[in-house]
Amino acid sequence: MKYDAQAFELISNKEIANGIFDWTVKNKSLSSIAQPGQFAHIAVPGKTLRRPISICDTDGENLRLVFQVKGQGTEIMSQLKEGASVDIIAPLGNGFKIEKGKKYCFIGGGIGVPPMLYAAKAACKPLVITGFRSKDFVILQDDFKSIGADLVLATDDGSTGIHGFVTDVLKERINEVDEICACGPFPMLRAVAQAAKENNKPCQVSLEERMGCGVGACLVCACKVKRANGEEEYLHVCKNGPVFNAEEVVF
Ligand SMILES: Cc1cc2nc3c(=O)[nH]c(=O)nc-3n(C[C@H](O)[C@H](O)[C@H](O)COP(=O)(O)OP(=O)(O)OC[C@H]3O[C@@H](n4cnc5c(N)ncnc54)[C@H](O)[C@@H]3O)c2cc1C
Ligand code: FES
Repeated sequence: MKYDAQAFELISNKEIANGIFDWTVKNKSLSSIAQPGQFAHIAVPGKTLRRPISICDTDGENLRLVFQVKGQGTEIMSQLKEGASVDIIAPLGNGFKIEKGKKYCFIGGGIGVPPMLYAAKAACKPLVITGFRSKDFVILQDDFKSIGADLVLATDDGSTGIHGFVTDVLKERINEVDEICACGPFPMLRAVAQAAKENNKPCQVSLEERMGCGVGACLVCACKVKRANGEEEYLHVCKNGPVFNAEEVVF
């Protein structure tokens, strides 16, 4: 497979919460083929390595990318002006597999919430559980409401929504759903996978690893998986994932 970097025009760049930015970038040919759970690999001016950001949404012409400023790369990205040309390879990776007729629960923790929007749009009346540290970091609630999701908001400190973790809500409502998809911090994914296993529900998790090339060529993003026959092997988060069957991930 050939991976081409293409120019996307930055149509809009808004700060939607403390240090969290919402980009709309335009490129019709690539936006129209993006699948839920795939990611965009973004060239940052002055930096050698691209930065991976999940596809939050697409309308077939534009990609929406929501990111939190963590280090120098995302800081530079946050300061780019509307009208800028951004060099992006997308869509990359294997995303969520959403089957018709199944009742899904989508769980996002913190900056793991954005990819759940496009995934939730692909399902019918999903349960969506979003968790944040506090009210200052809450994002995308109106977007989930606008697609008709049964939306739950939880915060670690109780400053808004339910006081508690997304897994507390999942455990109460797990019998309502057929399958779970999750993206967020590793301990959250481990707890979600455990709850899914105890309740015999299939579960897909989107993993985050430091990345170099983003296309399976440099081995930076290796993650350990366990096959059904018990054998363990290393796969690439960028190419084989970022979405994996939770049963296979060695947490
Ligand atoms: C598949 C995937 C999807 C992601 N989706 C999102 C998203 O939707 N929104 C969002 O805010 N963040 C997302 N991230 C995390 C995001 O890529 C990092 O926060 C970002 O690369 C940090 O870059 P930096 O230059 O600001 O930080 P620095 O720490 O200065 O980065 C230095 C280097 O480490 C890499 N790096 C640092 N942290 C991470 C990380 N957590 N994951 C991968 N590479 C990292 C950078 O790419 C860079 O090469 C995603 C990561 C992956 C792997
Ligand atoms: S980032 Fe290079 S192999 Fe995955």
